[in-house]
Amino acid sequence: MIRNGFLIGAILSLGFISQDALAAKKKFLKFPANFKWCAATAAHQIEGYNYNSDWWEWETRRPGCKVKNCETSEFATDHWNRVDEDIRLMRDLNLKQYRFSVEWAKIEPRENQIDWAAVEHYRQEVNKLFAAGVEPMITLQHFTLPMWVAQKGGWRWAGMPQAFKRYAETVYSLFGSRVRDWVTINEPMVHLGGGYVMGLTPPGFAPSGGPAKEERLPSGCSRAHRDGAPSLGSPTKEDLARLADAVRGVLKSHAAAYHALHKLAKAQKRQIRVGMANHLRAFDPRLVFNPLDWIVKGLFEEFFNWSIPDAMETGRLSLFIPGVINTKNQIIPGLRGTQDFFGLNYYTRDIVWFKMQAGIGAGMCSKANAVTSDMGWEIYPHGIYRLIREATRRYGNIPILITENGIADNRDALRPAYIRSHLKAVHRAIRAGSRVEAYCHWSLLDNFEWVEGYGPRFGLYEVDYATMARIPRASAKLYSIIAAENGLVE
Ligand code: BGC
Repeated sequence: MIRNGFLIGAILSLGFISQDALAAKKKFLKFPANFKWCAATAAHQIEGYNYNSDWWEWETRRPGCKVKNCETSEFATDHWNRVDEDIRLMRDLNLKQYRFSVEWAKIEPRENQIDWAAVEHYRQEVNKLFAAGVEPMITLQHFTLPMWVAQKGGWRWAGMPQAFKRYAETVYSLFGSRVRDWVTINEPMVHLGGGYVMGLTPPGFAPSGGPAKEERLPSGCSRAHRDGAPSLGSPTKEDLARLADAVRGVLKSHAAAYHALHKLAKAQKRQIRVGMANHLRAFDPRLVFNPLDWIVKGLFEEFFNWSIPDAMETGRLSLFIPGVINTKNQIIPGLRGTQDFFGLNYYTRDIVWFKMQAGIGAGMCSKANAVTSDMGWEIYPHGIYRLIREATRRYGNIPILITENGIADNRDALRPAYIRSHLKAVHRAIRAGSRVEAYCHWSLLDNFEWVEGYGPRFGLYEVDYATMARIPRASAKLYSIIAAENGLVE
């Protein structure tokens, strides 16, 4: 070892080999054959013109500005008119798979009325992806609902599982019958938390105990980001009961769609895989020597990260926060075993701690002095390793698809390192025995970041919103090389 190092040093100093050659001495982290290099998007964030959705109503018809600077999704990135161009970007990235959502509000803008032009649009998009050698992964619901569904009560509407099942059948039979990987619902805990407790997103139920108060963060914490518990306000038992009701609606709808899709595939003698995209965060205690902070960490993990995927495995829903909610072991008919893969969306870590207060006695922040994204999220690659390993511990040899991972980084200063460090962590998890089969970078291109508007930029491609031009960032080049070589240098 020492001799080798000395030799390389000696040759280098003589100028015989370059730094590149030295890099070549580093280990190449090869991913499994057939690993799916992928990028992800969502319809409402890129397509534009989603006028029959609950989000459009939220952006444009509610008092005040629900989105930063009163921006709207009206044109988004105009992807609706740029499918060919955007598929070329995917080819330039050497993608093998593309995760995108289709818009229920466009396919069925009014109850029982199919918009055939929208169906034709998606049929062509799917065909073009196959023709380009990019396997489509379809998400059925990514945060938005048709307005007519929202008016009936959304996820708490008793007819929702049936309606969602019909919608899934429509998508499958009209343009999805060649698609293998299906995500029924994206990040239920995120959109239900935002919409049924925090008042940030549709349908907009705010905490009954009032909004969050500005508070000084304790030591160990930096600026709290907007989606954390400090902005929770004071939710009551009733607020949490409403959330649980919506969670049950999501799970019943997922189960209904799961069985419907499998039935259709079976009739064609095809194998498909159906799951959800779960948003998981790494949680750590603020004070490592405080047992109460450790308890809070455990509660966050079970409630936010694992309650939904666990329920898909066992068929039983357990949501538990002491003194506020306890739905331990509630049976959801038809739900057991409806997770063919574990879809993992991972972005960041939160520091959590115990707080003496009524209701949810917990605080959440970003770690002090951590390197953070433009949205204040800590860059913590080890988190993706921890969560993959935990999924394997809980669910055995389940295929794991990284359905999202990315960073808001306007200048693309941190993204290349973010991609590399997270992929190294994924590779480590594979080496340790986890069955990770795909990595979808969020996102293919800059897009409408929900309540944050167009400010945060997550794209491998920059979008110039004045001209809608797509401009490759350095990260796009890097990702295309990694995908072509099926791995990266350590
Ligand atoms: C969502 C995306 C969102 C991304 C970045 C995920 O929670 O699925 O729609 O743009 O995070 O915030």
